[in-house]
Amino acid sequence: MSLRSSFKSAFYELLTLSVTVSLLSFAAAAPSLAHDHDDDDDSYTIGLWGDLPYSTLQATVGVPNLIADMNAHRLKFTAHDGDLKQGSNSACDAGLYAQALAFFNSLEAPAMFTPGDNDWVDCDRPSNGGFNSRDRLDYERKVFFSTPFSLGQRKLRQEVQTDPLCLSANGTKIGCVENRRWTVGRVTYATLNVQGSCNNLCDTNPDPDEYNARNAAVILWMQQTFAEAKKRNSAAVMFITQGNPGWDQADPTRAPLRDPKTLAETDGQPDGFVSLLTALRAEVEAFRKPVAYVHGDSHYFRIDQPFLNSTGQRLENFVRVETFGDNQGNGNNDVRWLKVTVDPRSRDVFYFQPVTVPANRTAVPAPTRN
Ligand SMILES: [Fe+2]
Repeated sequence: MSLRSSFKSAFYELLTLSVTVSLLSFAAAAPSLAHDHDDDDDSYTIGLWGDLPYSTLQATVGVPNLIADMNAHRLKFTAHDGDLKQGSNSACDAGLYAQALAFFNSLEAPAMFTPGDNDWVDCDRPSNGGFNSRDRLDYERKVFFSTPFSLGQRKLRQEVQTDPLCLSANGTKIGCVENRRWTVGRVTYATLNVQGSCNNLCDTNPDPDEYNARNAAVILWMQQTFAEAKKRNSAAVMFITQGNPGWDQADPTRAPLRDPKTLAETDGQPDGFVSLLTALRAEVEAFRKPVAYVHGDSHYFRIDQPFLNSTGQRLENFVRVETFGDNQGNGNNDVRWLKVTVDPRSRDVFYFQPVTVPANRTAVPAPTRN
């Protein structure tokens, strides 16, 4: 080693030491804040889950196993895409939201959440206690979304849709504060409050006024997310939502049926999604870079490309991702999660890996070690 390079190496050691010391002092001042390296191009991993737990067994065994497994994976953040419980025969009482909050705060990485129809829209079903749906969403806003930070042991600061665009239970306009946006490693993420039960236009007590206000806010938040991604020169965008809007004619047992060219719903049900999908399509085509649209709702894990343009051509830069969710037919087995490797320097940015939690295997037990 030359004198010059040994001087250089000593200089870098000092520099490293001082950076370490200043990071340590920052960590001491704000121990629970995660650092979102906005400009960092390194790849990282995130965890996606949702539609869980749906039973006492899942709440006491399956989900704790899942959380321990996620914690062992050193994830950058996790996101639950809604439905904190089964759709019927279970009350939307304070205990439900307290249980979910405890789950999220036992995750070491920043924990994101977007509400699901089972935890607000369908709380008006008599078998769920006959609550006022808007009141349950207002309550979720207090429990999960009262600060600009994520949940989880490490927290990430997020942008929040604070403009008074949503309708509260008492009819006043309030912020849709569950809609969040954050950027990690040159990829921009946003949650959108999009729901099953026709996005609150069918099932018990449809609520067109609530839908109209929230849907306009969601479309605006989606469009602003693309604007933010363009401004930051983000490599990709990911949305995290609950409702399966239906994309085409392929899945009549699980999702609304839709003409993929016109995007109009064809099964005679109220269409709570067409305006969002129409606006989303225009943005996806203009953005050109990868867009992932994550949802739950129909509990059928899949990654596909069902979004077509108005002449029927596939939008190559768009991928739909449905997370696992409950499948009680398999006992505890389907309490699983989806690992996403995010590599901003790569062509497709998002790489998906279904993760089986070894302790949750039921149909085929985990192999024994020899
Ligand atoms: Fe669900």
